[in-house]
Amino acid sequence: MCGIVGYVGPQPALEVVVDGLARLEYRGYDSAGVAVLGGERLHTEKRAGKLANLRQALQERPITGEGAGIGHTRWATHGGPTDANAHPHVDNDNRVAVVHNGIIENFAALRAELEDDGCKFLSETDTEVAAHLLNRELARRGDKDLASALRSVCKRLEGAFTLVAVSVDDPDLVVAARRNSPLVVGRGQGENFLASDVAAFIAHTREAIELGQDQVVELRPDSVAVTDYDGNPVEVNEYHVDWDASAAEKGGYDYFMLKEIVEQPRAIADTLLGRLSADGELTLDEMRLSPSELRSVEKIVIIACGTSYHAGLIAKYAIEHWCRIPCEVEVASEFRYRDPILDQQTLVIAISQSGESMDTLMAVRHAREQRAKVLAICNVNGSTIPREADGVLYTYAGPEVGVAATKTFLTQLAACYLVGLYLAQVRGLKFGDEIEAVIAQLATMPEQIERVLDTVEPVRELARSLADVDTVLFLGRHVGYPVAMEGALKLKELAYMHAEAFAAGELKHGPIALIEEGLPVVVVVPSPQGRSVLHDKIVSNIQEVRARGARTVVIAEEGDEAVRPYSDVLIEIPAVPTLLQPIVATVPMQVFACELALAKGNDVDQPRNLAKSVTVE
Ligand code: F6R
Repeated sequence: MCGIVGYVGPQPALEVVVDGLARLEYRGYDSAGVAVLGGERLHTEKRAGKLANLRQALQERPITGEGAGIGHTRWATHGGPTDANAHPHVDNDNRVAVVHNGIIENFAALRAELEDDGCKFLSETDTEVAAHLLNRELARRGDKDLASALRSVCKRLEGAFTLVAVSVDDPDLVVAARRNSPLVVGRGQGENFLASDVAAFIAHTREAIELGQDQVVELRPDSVAVTDYDGNPVEVNEYHVDWDASAAEKGGYDYFMLKEIVEQPRAIADTLLGRLSADGELTLDEMRLSPSELRSVEKIVIIACGTSYHAGLIAKYAIEHWCRIPCEVEVASEFRYRDPILDQQTLVIAISQSGESMDTLMAVRHAREQRAKVLAICNVNGSTIPREADGVLYTYAGPEVGVAATKTFLTQLAACYLVGLYLAQVRGLKFGDEIEAVIAQLATMPEQIERVLDTVEPVRELARSLADVDTVLFLGRHVGYPVAMEGALKLKELAYMHAEAFAAGELKHGPIALIEEGLPVVVVVPSPQGRSVLHDKIVSNIQEVRARGARTVVIAEEGDEAVRPYSDVLIEIPAVPTLLQPIVATVPMQVFACELALAKGNDVDQPRNLAKSVTVE
């Protein structure tokens, strides 16, 4: 939530910063702004709305500077998305500029104190207090040490924040502090960068430095110095980013989301690579949790939000079935507030593609305080949740820029299956025919997804034909239920439509009253093989809604003739073991939501009110 960029070096800072913001716009697009230093002055420009508005303003009123620069793209929390509330914020002497990601929880008290002191506030944001505090601290100290001043200011702030600041007194310096919100340094040759996400500087350097909790970084063209809030130097973790700028570009597609849907076979293949061997043995030693720790697990609790929560719901079916370990799944925002029962024998699995969702992070901290072991499933190397967890299993979806999760969801499913199968392996559970078949089929998932992608044109046509409907319902049973939930979520967030998912068996207990003539109902049908009872039940449910006038859109295994007579539209997916079906059944749902949103003229990469990484509770 909110994207931050900082640059110091010989290139024109304004260009580097605006280019970085373009790559971070998915993190928030309520407003954007920049500040650059030049001629002993601070030049600031900021505009409500998307980055295009800022670019336009910069064209009409160009600003230049030979010093450092910072920029921000905002997802509004305190104060609406106006020009005044856009970042950067400056002090009343226009000497210090600040951009911020997070929430300063004690801002009201600080603002009152600063106003008593004569500060004049120009915005409604929590961030502006930081600019005034910094200027006041510099004046009090009588020196130009911006990093020291920032360390003192941070000690007065409560809440979550990444703060980045520049000052006219030291034009070749950018300083930043990090608590709970993401921040990563890009180390270049004679130039340095910082940003909320490596995507902002990947075109310039692939060498990155992770910043830890409560650390302050001082960035000059030739040096990067990191300390704690008391000024003590700290050890940092440097790493090489293993994807390049082209991975974070549209590559010929009109939208990132379209590209990311198509990238799913590769994303799954990369996530399975090296972990699944031909003889069915799994290798997950990298996870940092030892086999003996995994053998002692008596209960699993999965915590996650949104789409990641749906991955968790699917994981529960697989883990309980394969490992016979009780498994609960809970939305992270509810978890810690209900006093959950956890102990050393509990394995908490935190699923978060960004590794930064504040709800999930807080739940992870709560779980660790209760002495549970925490395993993170995450797509972003070095992000906060895997850093704080006991173990991590990374997914290899590559950068996902479209705000709606697609390839990260499918790779989370792959990672969850790996965890379930690995738990079964280390606990010595008998690998019967079923598990062997699952492992063999898991390896074929990339080609199965390719097959789905090759046959989705009718789904696109269907979506376009439904652009005027108000409501779509989704039904599923077993793992098809969370898939239905994911289909409904995609439609809500992209097409801004009322979309709701029900467990198909629950329909008759109330929701069936919603069915009326012509209402589209999407049904995810489990495989007819093996669990035919489940299949028969859902065929009855399809008939029930159809008899009441619903227009049925049925997603079923190819060759499933039993559903054909009751399907107004039949979408066929490859036959795979039931527990793996979500991987293939989700893809048509993603295409459906994306196409319907495009038919309505919506921006599928940046749906309204959303942000990619939700770093507030
Ligand atoms: C939906 C979506 C969100 C995220 C949720 C959790 O398409 O992307 O629902 O799944 O905000 O985000 P992470 O996985 O980053 O914790």
